[in-house]
Amino acid sequence: MRDSEHTKCPDQLTLGQKAALTSGGDFWRTQAIPEAGIAPVMLADGPHGLRKQPEGGDALGIGTSVPATCFPPLVGLGSSWNPSLVERVGAAIAREAIAHGVSVVLGPGVNIKRSPLGGRNFEYVSEDPLLAGCIGAAWVNGVQSLGVGTSLKHFAVNSQETDRLRVSAEVDERTLREIYLPAFEHIVTTARPTTVMCAYNGVNGVLCSQNSWLLTDVLRGEWGFDGLVVSDWGAVSDRAAALEAGLDLEMPPSGVDHTLVEAVRAGDLDEGYLDASARRVLELIERTAGARDTATGTDTDVSLEEHHALARAAATESAVLLKNEGGLLPLDPRADTALAVIGAFAETPRFQGGGSSHVVPSRVDNALEAIRAAVSDPARIRFAPGFTLDGVPDEQLVEQAVEAARGATQVLLFLGLPESAESEGFDRTDIFLPADQLALLNAVAEAGASIVVVLSNGATVQMNPWQDKTAAVLEGWLLGQAGGSALADLLFGIANPSGRLTETVPLRLEDSPSHLHFPGGDGHVHHGEGLFVGYRSYDTLGRAVAYPFGHGLSFTAFSYSDLDVTETGPNRFAASFTVTNTGSRAGAEVAQLYVHQPVSRLRRPVQELKAFEKVFLEPGGSARVTLGLHERSFSYWSPRDGGWTVDPGEFELRIGASSRDVRLRARVRCNGTARPRRLTAESTIGEWLADPVGGPLLTAAMAADLDDSPVPVSLDASEISAMAASLPLARVPSFLAGVTHEHISALVAAAADGTLPQPR
Ligand code: BGC
Repeated sequence: MRDSEHTKCPDQLTLGQKAALTSGGDFWRTQAIPEAGIAPVMLADGPHGLRKQPEGGDALGIGTSVPATCFPPLVGLGSSWNPSLVERVGAAIAREAIAHGVSVVLGPGVNIKRSPLGGRNFEYVSEDPLLAGCIGAAWVNGVQSLGVGTSLKHFAVNSQETDRLRVSAEVDERTLREIYLPAFEHIVTTARPTTVMCAYNGVNGVLCSQNSWLLTDVLRGEWGFDGLVVSDWGAVSDRAAALEAGLDLEMPPSGVDHTLVEAVRAGDLDEGYLDASARRVLELIERTAGARDTATGTDTDVSLEEHHALARAAATESAVLLKNEGGLLPLDPRADTALAVIGAFAETPRFQGGGSSHVVPSRVDNALEAIRAAVSDPARIRFAPGFTLDGVPDEQLVEQAVEAARGATQVLLFLGLPESAESEGFDRTDIFLPADQLALLNAVAEAGASIVVVLSNGATVQMNPWQDKTAAVLEGWLLGQAGGSALADLLFGIANPSGRLTETVPLRLEDSPSHLHFPGGDGHVHHGEGLFVGYRSYDTLGRAVAYPFGHGLSFTAFSYSDLDVTETGPNRFAASFTVTNTGSRAGAEVAQLYVHQPVSRLRRPVQELKAFEKVFLEPGGSARVTLGLHERSFSYWSPRDGGWTVDPGEFELRIGASSRDVRLRARVRCNGTARPRRLTAESTIGEWLADPVGGPLLTAAMAADLDDSPVPVSLDASEISAMAASLPLARVPSFLAGVTHEHISALVAAAADGTLPQPR
């Protein structure tokens, strides 16, 4: 560590210096304070590659950046369901960051894909928080393994772009806890990211940059976050309020440091907040010093060649084979049949999204060249672009494409969303493929050749009814700079598809659970679907989908057998089972475990992903997979108790290849969460009777009190009608003459003591 980077103590700094430290020095750097020996550190975007802007870049940060390896954006990388691959990608990005003197890479983005329309869905992992958390944690571990910092973003509930700097996401606490916060929680508590970036939007009426519940109570208080909270670029509206809420570093600087100094002097802002945040900036500088030290002379250590190879491997694991009728794929590269490659994306790949994550790739592979290189006789390949990249209808292009298709036995049709269709900054308004591409597909289909569609899109597109005209669909998402060669590897079986859907593909946009509430209006977006995001809704309602969450085909087949569940502690289990590759090619299966609770106190999604593992198997090979489940795997957030709760009782473990392809099931019994008894006079008769202490107390007390009643009444549990069960105890005296408020108070006191009734 360099001397100048030893942590300074904030009380060696002046008030002005502390205020300056809590805001950037420029668009990408923290503030330098040379007179105090404090050097600036540089932050730069990711997360699927380094976006370091050259010196003197535009002030808005939207211009060009130094060439870097463009890995698959998280929509692709997440579909690999392979944390160790993601970790390797993270480490490669860190190597490039070190070479360019970047101390913090701004990622990963783990917001939940609430709607297929979300403009940044390509930058996010999943509709499922467990998967988003595991993939995000792997990315953080990879980057930080080399001492480079990360910025977990956008905290929190940044699931739309519409009005993103002002909109307030209105979300009930249970939904926040179960859907929108767990990915952040998992990453913070297991991977310790150096920084967390607050979102632009507000949550329940308070801007995230000023939200002390999020930034202080939950993030630091509950999850123990000890790093720095940075604003999203331009997210701060009130510096002092943000500082008090727990935001440490404003980026980029808004130039109002003096207001903090004045506020402290006027007694309006406690200097302790400035001390704490200045200290965290100094700690960030120290925590990332190792990477800057390694940087000296390391430019040559980065092998862009190796990183490109890693990008290609990552891309092959990111694509998802959705459909493959009659095992049409893989194609035989040695066959002498004529192949028509149609679609502009085959030659000009669409491989990343627009906005702050846009990387200038070190090179770009295209599928057309890779296909030509893969086959033994490139002369049998005819190419026709078929459509224009800017969506201008061109009849001549269609005619050429039809012509190419007529002479071919097999058509490889590259369709997708143009760059202008999805980007940071706006949401989509529909999920259709462009009309000119659908017209092309129809025209090509009429030519009679068998069609394989290869898709390039950062977010879900509607597949019906057009997919009926295809024999196979390979969902390529956005695959980064090596996507073109990865697609050729997959089409010709050099690699075996192993990606799985991280989001449900609905039949229609209208089916998506947030449809009626997205993107809100007048500054508010009400999360009316609550917990029921993605498959949690489709599966609970049993609604038909185009492709379910977790789905993805392989060129081989897998069987599941011999499930064995052992109890490893209170509300803890280990589920072991065997996965066998029953086909003739090496391949990988993603074994998924969903938990279903048949009867629950509060309504829950019918099943939720609680563990998964990707297993690589040679033909005929088997592996024993063990997935661990712990208390949280069975819990829901109880608003009443303000905490995680497991109901005592039965749960079903469902193990399989997608949320709709369950192969093994087992039942386990949980003891439930031990919680202090909370029976009050306002608790209902039903709640009293369901309680192990309250139930017997109430039954015994009622029996005794009613002995003297002129009317023969009994309050035996079995005879309690649904109507009586919903009656709060405090209201009973109004209905039963023999019962007084004194009786009720005595019961509440006895229940609080936990004393069971004595036999009379
Ligand atoms: C984006 C962030 C990004 C930052 C810096 C913002 O507009 O929301 O994801 O890291 O800019 O470029």
